[in-house]
Amino acid sequence: LRQVDTDKSYFEARDYREKAVTPFGHKGTRGRATVIAGGFGKMGAALLVLKGALHSGIGLLTAQVCPPSVNVVQTAVPEALILQDENDYVLGTLHDYSNQDVLVMGPAIGNANKTCILLREVLSSYNGQLVLDADAINILAENREMLEMLPKNTILTPHPGEFSRLVGKAENDFERIELLQSFCKKYQVITVLKGKYTAVCSAKGEISFNSTGNSGMAKGGSGDLLCGIIAGIYPRKKNTFETVKLAVFLHGLAGDLAKSYLGENFMTPSNIADYLSFAEMNLD
Ligand code: APR
Ligand code: MG
Repeated sequence: LRQVDTDKSYFEARDYREKAVTPFGHKGTRGRATVIAGGFGKMGAALLVLKGALHSGIGLLTAQVCPPSVNVVQTAVPEALILQDENDYVLGTLHDYSNQDVLVMGPAIGNANKTCILLREVLSSYNGQLVLDADAINILAENREMLEMLPKNTILTPHPGEFSRLVGKAENDFERIELLQSFCKKYQVITVLKGKYTAVCSAKGEISFNSTGNSGMAKGGSGDLLCGIIAGIYPRKKNTFETVKLAVFLHGLAGDLAKSYLGENFMTPSNIADYLSFAEMNLD
């Protein structure tokens, strides 16, 4: 394994290394996640979320997709179960997610009326851990009364553009961090402001800056992978803030490993998924 500098961690990564699940563990012990992502024609986003969850230890993975997209998921991610949406081209059907430890919603779902209603229904009915990214964040930004409906400790993972739509524009980085803290405290959510040094903010306003990752990750799909990793890790850790910090750290470390083997220009987000195991093993 080519060495990357794990000492640059902002925390003692080995303290965050997960304990193995019980030798008698089964799929349920590792947790269940459902992913609502990838409208018709944008299934790549859904596949990367699924790969993120799959390569970070989820026990049972389900993808809610439109009927024309079923074969895409079944072929590319055979481990995933399918939950069909009733609509052919937009995601809009509320299913029973009550036995799911974590629900990810957002990448490439668009902002069709039916999809906005689905998000609203999810916010008011789902009791597990919610991870909202991309278009789910844009929907919240456009329908601000929905912010009041966010369950406590919801995880939001905006990139800077999504962040400024959701939280507001800042004059400089200091102001952006202050906006981040007051937003998380006000709505009691955990927010991941993605970028070169991704900032993770708890519902109490505590901030951690991540030190792993590189510009080879600046390619469409890397962010989708991250929300999948959060979903993959959460059921075994349960603590939301710790889960998110570990997920962001491993995502960047896997990116650093991908860069060291493949080079930052030619590495892909799918490659990053393939290096997640090595990243996790490299925490020792
Ligand atoms: N250094 C370290 N990490 C980086 C860097 C960098 N220079 N650039 C990007 N990253 C990481 C970010 O920290 C984040 O985790 O890559 C990820 C990028 O996430 P997103 O910006 O959400 O990108 P993604 O969603 O994969 O791309 C699709 O393209 O058409 C746009 O807005 C549309 O959201 C959509 C995006
Ligand atoms: Mg994104």
